[in-house]
Amino acid sequence: MPDTPPDHRPIRSFVLREGRLTEGQRKAFERLWPRYGVDYAGGRLRPSGLFGNDHPLYLEIGFGNGEALAETAARHPDHNYLGIEVHRPGVGRLLLRLEASGLRNVRIIRHDAMEILRHGLPDESLDGVMLFFPDPWHKKRHHKRRMVQPEFAALLAPLLKPGGVLHMATDWEDYARQMMTVMSAAAGFENCIGEGQFAPRPQQRPLTKFEQRGRRLGHGVWDLCFRRI
Ligand SMILES: C[S@@+](CC[C@H](N)C(=O)[O-])C[C@H]1O[C@@H](n2cnc3c(N)ncnc32)[C@H](O)[C@@H]1O
Repeated sequence: MPDTPPDHRPIRSFVLREGRLTEGQRKAFERLWPRYGVDYAGGRLRPSGLFGNDHPLYLEIGFGNGEALAETAARHPDHNYLGIEVHRPGVGRLLLRLEASGLRNVRIIRHDAMEILRHGLPDESLDGVMLFFPDPWHKKRHHKRRMVQPEFAALLAPLLKPGGVLHMATDWEDYARQMMTVMSAAAGFENCIGEGQFAPRPQQRPLTKFEQRGRRLGHGVWDLCFRRI
């Protein structure tokens, strides 16, 4: 069954503006995609098959250039990291980063993350999920494109192991409040910090270029932490 009637396109949380790949990124794809990439063609993935082991699995949605993912994966070689991103140049940058650091515990899916949450992962397969600075879609008429909506929470809940944590950060106050409202009302989650409370910036969350730029522009940052009950 399709998710939407045939004449209705699904609302997406992204618009693909690919730009050109640099020569380095194009070559990175050819050389490194077979090593790190997962060609998602529908159905449920088997994480132990992707990584060749049963280590705890963490998912990063919309990793951008992959700085946070590569840094976190380097710190925890005994954890597996699955990154989902649709933007090809960002994927290319992460591929180069992974090669340079020799990391073996990262796999990449280039696909709409919502589709992967709907169909691609087994129940209770995730130990943690990271969603850092998702597109804020700041105009009111675009709010429907924001990823953190009740459907997102409902899809994620069965995929997380009990005790697994969803960690989100945004520099957009209004979206931070929406995240808090959606997740506080979501079945199967509790706020790690206490009801209605934002989390202190966790030391382990790497500072990305994106966040640095926000800081320079004087943006605040809100972290949220919700645990699967
Ligand atoms: C504002 S950027 C933040 C990137 C990164 N997390 C960081 O903190 O620097 C949001 C990213 O999410 C990606 N994205 C948005 N919707 C997505 C979706 N449905 N599936 C996969 N990636 C998505 C975009 O391509 C973009 O790279």
